Amino acid sequence: MVLSLGAGLASCVITPEEMEHSPIDPKRAAAFAAKDSNGNEVALYTLRNKNGMIVELTNYGATIVSINVPDKKGKVENVTLGYEDHAGLAAGGSYFGCVVGRYGNRIAKGTFKIDGAEYHAPLNNGVNTLHGGIKSIDKQVWKARLMNDAVSFSITVPDGENGYPGNLKLKVVYSLREDNSLAIDYTATTDKATVINVTNHAYFNLSGDPTQKILDHELMIHADRFTPVDSTLIPTGELRAVKGTPFDFTQAKAIGKDIDATYEQLQFGGGYDHNFVLNERDPQAPAVVVTEKNSGRKMEVFTTEPGVQFYTGNFLNGNEKGRGVAYQHRTGFCLETQHFPDSPNQPSFPTTLLKPGETFKSQTIYRFGIDGEK
Ligand code: BGC
Repeated sequence: MVLSLGAGLASCVITPEEMEHSPIDPKRAAAFAAKDSNGNEVALYTLRNKNGMIVELTNYGATIVSINVPDKKGKVENVTLGYEDHAGLAAGGSYFGCVVGRYGNRIAKGTFKIDGAEYHAPLNNGVNTLHGGIKSIDKQVWKARLMNDAVSFSITVPDGENGYPGNLKLKVVYSLREDNSLAIDYTATTDKATVINVTNHAYFNLSGDPTQKILDHELMIHADRFTPVDSTLIPTGELRAVKGTPFDFTQAKAIGKDIDATYEQLQFGGGYDHNFVLNERDPQAPAVVVTEKNSGRKMEVFTTEPGVQFYTGNFLNGNEKGRGVAYQHRTGFCLETQHFPDSPNQPSFPTTLLKPGETFKSQTIYRFGIDGEK
């Protein structure tokens, strides 16, 4: 059933299926309801499971608005940074919870070649292009379809938009499962060879309190190597061993333990803002595990992607507001599962080329639980 739950919900007769998607609070639905200049409707969509987990989504940017999960005492709290309303989301510059693309993270000087032809994306991050360019898919209205335990968002990114070739048909499906996992499935096709790297840009703070820094969270990343960057955060092409560096998260350690170490890569990022090269692993094994002691919350990340951008909210400085607070430095972290930044210019990296006739597929699962419990 295709259904949009906007501000008018209160006047509808609610069926059991609709109930599953009913907003936490009708005022929330109203705050996230909008229309773009072409008359496309924006709405809030809610998924809930039997354990009290609630995920709010909007078709503006295919964005995660909130993820609400129980702590060790059963208290359900939002573990993501987010905006108060649609206007905040539309004006925001930190990519809270949205899907970034068509090329997530950076392309050096916004320039790349496919089959000898050179393409240019707009520079929106110093001398580089970040997260697709200007008014990219994170600032557009997607088509939404509600399913029982899932919401599907789709968009066609026109040939030439932001300089990228090919009409790209992109679909993102968010599914909430009874084991407290949120699965994100991406599929895409194109009618001209293009580059693609899509990911979700949620910022997490498992304490549930967005005024607290994330430095005490314990993190394990199943990665023996990372991709060092230059001062503009473009990978140099090297795959550097994490062993003996502040980038060694192969055994769980506090995010803040080495974050201010004197190590050039940390100076370039103002903290961690780097792609980790995920090790080969059993598909059932998480690529990343994060725990937060006080709440007892645990998050495991599973992905089919070869890399993950670990970003510690180094650029947050109180300018972005939501949930009644101004988000301060390092109060959220991102784990953006992805292909490596600047892959179109780095022949040794896994390819991000998508050709007509091929189907791009990618899956990432964020699974929530309590540390020490099965
Ligand atoms: C980038 C950061 C950037 C952040 C928000 C991350 O994916 O690597 O450098 O500041 O997104 O835009």
